[in-house]
Amino acid sequence: MAIPLVLDCDPGHDDAMALLLAIADPAVELLAVTTVAGNQTVDKCTVNARRVLSLAGVTDVPVARGADRPLVRRLRIADDVHGQTGLDGPLFDTEPTVPESPSAAQDVLIDVLQKHSTPVTIVATGALTNIARLLASEPALTPKIAEIVWMGGSTDRGNIAPLAEANAYVDPEAADQVVRSGVPFTMCGLNVTHQALVTDDVLARFERIGTPLARICVEWMTFFASTYRQLWGFEAPPLHDPVAVARVIDPAIVRCVEANVVVEAKGEWTSGATAVDLFNYTGRAPNAQVAVELDREAFWTRIVDAVTALG
Ligand code: RIB
Ligand code: CA
Repeated sequence: MAIPLVLDCDPGHDDAMALLLAIADPAVELLAVTTVAGNQTVDKCTVNARRVLSLAGVTDVPVARGADRPLVRRLRIADDVHGQTGLDGPLFDTEPTVPESPSAAQDVLIDVLQKHSTPVTIVATGALTNIARLLASEPALTPKIAEIVWMGGSTDRGNIAPLAEANAYVDPEAADQVVRSGVPFTMCGLNVTHQALVTDDVLARFERIGTPLARICVEWMTFFASTYRQLWGFEAPPLHDPVAVARVIDPAIVRCVEANVVVEAKGEWTSGATAVDLFNYTGRAPNAQVAVELDREAFWTRIVDAVTALG
């Protein structure tokens, strides 16, 4: 039985690839896509999510707009990484055919959780604003969430501030609330997503697929590579967000350890830092599965297979 899944995202190049994986991998069933402000405004992220589903030919999965700003902070977008559209690279001269859901993300999340016969996994690949709101407003629904698997945080250093990863930094109050909620939580941070590098070999595998969709993937990843090279000097960019989807598809692809995680929301210099107590210095009970190691070959094979299957 495929694992029922909602993807809460801020596309974003790596979110786009995470969407394609969630759409096409037979181990999961994508029930809904919800968007959140982060890489770009929520308007642009929602258009981008609709774009990805349109390219994949998906017409039966709602795309619902979520929070347009963090819980208490001003939004900081990442147009330096993802461009003016949030998904720069290939140019499109038509609007995406998949419409936006008339319902807001919160209503779609509630509806999916209430109606699905078994608990649903939420994969979040942006700031946790929508998820924090959901947990705060609908505590009775938490047993209907199988787990929350988040691309965010880091056991090491950050990528937007010395100690903060971008999804944690954008809305640390939301991340803090979700981590403390007691809902089963898995964190796929930079320490593991930096093992998912789009090397030339990987790019060549997508080029060999030879379909229009695969070509667009190559163009997305080539744009992403250019900003990672320019901003951080990476030779190959890390494709963060599909790591969280891969963890759900096959837990063996992403090895995790149990640890206590807290999110710093107050620090003057450390806001958005994830303090991951890998060695139990604090004595606090583990509250998360923390990803530490990626099976690169299995990971890339799953994504290449997904894009191939979409034709
Ligand atoms: O830090 C990487 C994360 O920030 C990814 O989810 C990327 O899409 C951006 O949102
Ligand atoms: Ca993202």
